[in-house]
Amino acid sequence: MTVQHDTPTAAASGAGATERFKSDKSGGGAGTPPERVDLLAREVLSAVHDTIRRHRVTYAEYNALKAWLIDVGETGEWPLFLDVWVEHVVEDVATEHRQGNKGTIEGPYYVPDAPERGSHGTLPTRPDEKGAPLTWTGQVRSTDGTPLPGAKIELWHADDDGYYSQFAPGIPEWNLRGTFTADGNGEFGIGTVRPAPYQIPTDGACGRLIAAAGWHSWRPAHLHVKVSAPGHEQLTAQLYFPGDAHNDDDIASAVKPELMLDPEPAADGRGETVVYDFVLDPVRL
Ligand code: DHB
Ligand code: FE
Repeated sequence: MTVQHDTPTAAASGAGATERFKSDKSGGGAGTPPERVDLLAREVLSAVHDTIRRHRVTYAEYNALKAWLIDVGETGEWPLFLDVWVEHVVEDVATEHRQGNKGTIEGPYYVPDAPERGSHGTLPTRPDEKGAPLTWTGQVRSTDGTPLPGAKIELWHADDDGYYSQFAPGIPEWNLRGTFTADGNGEFGIGTVRPAPYQIPTDGACGRLIAAAGWHSWRPAHLHVKVSAPGHEQLTAQLYFPGDAHNDDDIASAVKPELMLDPEPAADGRGETVVYDFVLDPVRL
């Protein structure tokens, strides 16, 4: 599906993320009423106007912005830009009512219908997959403590080089992507490898903004999950590892303390084990 080149490029991963979004979600806001569009568009523009007046923005700066916005489109980086710098606030608002897990941003690299791996299994990996083995066990429950048998846990993450299958070249289609189904006690067990920290593409428009502003381009290492069960709100989250250099300054502002894992060395000496449970909120009536 994705445009493939020999080395990962911003344009190729941007094209893949754009295509993924269009096939999945781009129709979602189609029914937004005109009053709401009017209100939100006016307030966003007015925030831009205020910034221009407050900081005496020049024509040179205005033209730099215009060139950069054109560049975002040409490098296909609208999904990346929005998911890194905007989505975290939308997610906060969308989940602030929850009693169970609140979650965090989805990011641009989710693909539905990843291979089924049962209740206890391993993610698809290459025979020579790099990275320390990670064995994760957990349970999915409702907010009243009832286990949720049959809950779906979709897991996807970057490899030891920080790349996602289907968005970087040369990786098998479903590598490090899988769907698990909780057993009769709501429990699951997942074998994978620890992902590496992820650097957002530096050779596209987002990378050029980061360089021009003197920021850094790193996200801490993370596992992406979506957890769903009938009658419950779907949880979209990411789980992080203690000690990562970028837990405190994630470029995507998506780290929350409750999403921190607590891995321990495995008893058999092979990598690490971790326990992490999920609590889903019943759908509000
Ligand atoms: C981006 C990548 C991610 O893996 C993620 O979780 C969030 C954002 C990005 O490149 O925009
Ligand atoms: Fe990610």
